[in-house]
Amino acid sequence: RMNHLISPSILTANFANLQKDIDMLNQSQADWIHVDVMDGVFVPNISFGFAVIKAIKQFAQKPLDVHLMIVDPDRYLEEFKNAGADGITVHYEACTHLNRTINKIKELGCRAGVALNPHTPVALLDDIIADLDLVLIMSVNPGFGAQKFLSNTYKKIADLKKLCALRNPELYIEIDGGVDAGNAAQLINTGANVLVAGNAVFSANDPSAAVATLKSIV
Ligand code: DX5
Ligand code: ZN
Repeated sequence: RMNHLISPSILTANFANLQKDIDMLNQSQADWIHVDVMDGVFVPNISFGFAVIKAIKQFAQKPLDVHLMIVDPDRYLEEFKNAGADGITVHYEACTHLNRTINKIKELGCRAGVALNPHTPVALLDDIIADLDLVLIMSVNPGFGAQKFLSNTYKKIADLKKLCALRNPELYIEIDGGVDAGNAAQLINTGANVLVAGNAVFSANDPSAAVATLKSIV
């Protein structure tokens, strides 16, 4: 069995004491720390920006998996890198020149990812799949934590598995939204290899144990 990754989302962490939650993740079996950036334009919510990511980076002992839910991300890629991003994922729907954006992320030395909204078909990645390090399939409409998982995600994972099989077999296939201990196994069996979990971790009585449970499933 392969060792798949868990990337807890700090969107549901306690923002009045982020250091405590970062310490918890440092001690936990989390592989990455998922950082959700929302601009109030691409999605109907605003989360946080560079200052908060820099503060997280000061304490984080795991790579920062930065998910940009913002329009025109090209304007800020360098600043996200400087704030501490190890991986940067942009939305397909927010990039007019996706090839250029991906090249720029790689030039900055970051893992380059593309996220797809629930309605965006995997097939649209046909001409860029070989250049990507990661594809993030949104399994909820982006903008908020603790939403209900959309089950068309399984078909999209299978489509993506097929698309990357020959041209990018090492691709990270990350699932984001409504992931929990109830669907983790099926997501992995369908082909996912990185699971994001916000609510399932931070609303648990013992968040560290919740990470361990997810990790034991994947
Ligand atoms: C949604 C974000 C997700 C979200 C996941 O817009 O991209 O990363 O925080 O949270 P849960 O696991 O609560 O759905
Ligand atoms: Zn996310």
